[in-house]
Amino acid sequence: MSVTHVCPWWLGYFLINPVRKFRHNPEKILGEYVKPGMKVVDFGSAMGWFSLPMAKMVGKSGKVYCFDIQEKMLSNLANRAKKAGVSEIIETRLISEGSEVYRDISEKIDFILLCAVAHEVPDQNELFLTLYSLLKQNGQLLFMEPAGHVSKQQFNNSVELAKKAGFMAIESPVVGKSHSILLQK
Ligand SMILES: C[S@@+](CC[C@H](N)C(=O)[O-])C[C@H]1O[C@@H](n2cnc3c(N)ncnc32)[C@H](O)[C@@H]1O
Repeated sequence: MSVTHVCPWWLGYFLINPVRKFRHNPEKILGEYVKPGMKVVDFGSAMGWFSLPMAKMVGKSGKVYCFDIQEKMLSNLANRAKKAGVSEIIETRLISEGSEVYRDISEKIDFILLCAVAHEVPDQNELFLTLYSLLKQNGQLLFMEPAGHVSKQQFNNSVELAKKAGFMAIESPVVGKSHSILLQK
């Protein structure tokens, strides 16, 4: 296992700054993959830069499960979801040791977003195995990492772990200042 650094909760406010839209426009990045009625996961959601737009994309017949290890990130996200009128679509789930947060959605998920999270996770092998287990057959994972923090080589190493878990590479969408790949179960 490698030593990793977790984004402090207060940095969550920078991640939801509207200026981010120039680089990470959720509709442009996700619009092709996230459709009405889907069950999707925002893994390592923080305060929900992508989760709220995803809720609008899946609509009332869909669901967005937002996972994080920091309670403050998720409580802020839940407040924002309430204000945006999408709290019935968004469900926040705190990951803690020994918890069974994944059990009821195993093999039920259509799409997972993993943006700027993997480099903070000490055991990426386990991470990709977990994400694989959540997806339905042919379900997709959009995996992105910030090019500033994560080298191309590190990103490629992570992709190899994803493939080892069973994923196959579909395409490499172009996303501002990010390494990015669409993977499929
Ligand atoms: C840099 S932020 C990115 C947040 C969000 N995906 C975005 O693009 O705005 C990384 C987030 O991943 C969360 N995180 C770190 N390790 C995690 C883990 N093992 N499982 C789930 N979330 C984790 C952190 O708490 C933080 O909220």
